[in-house]
Amino acid sequence: MFNLFKKKAKFYSAKILNNDKEFKVSKGKNLLAAALDDGINWPHKCRVGSCGSCKYKLIKGKISPDIDFGYVLSFDELNDGYALACQSSLKSDVEVEIELKK
Ligand code: FES
Repeated sequence: MFNLFKKKAKFYSAKILNNDKEFKVSKGKNLLAAALDDGINWPHKCRVGSCGSCKYKLIKGKISPDIDFGYVLSFDELNDGYALACQSSLKSDVEVEIELKK
């Protein structure tokens, strides 16, 4: 009964482990958009899930894919935990790895 009054998180935290950066991802925003808004130089091109340039490795946490990543990522990449930032909605705080642009 008390769960009815439990507030849901308005944002989640995303931590880039191999670059020691952390930023907030508000509800309704994808991982790439939140990173770019925070000034993080996350690689990207199309922003619609077709080029694969925003690929990252999900180390910890839950996401909801906005599209089927299998159209862009290989079977091995999917099994290794890779996902597309421009098509990732967060369902929890996450920890990721990515090579950022200089
Ligand atoms: S920016 Fe092209 S797939 Fe994400």
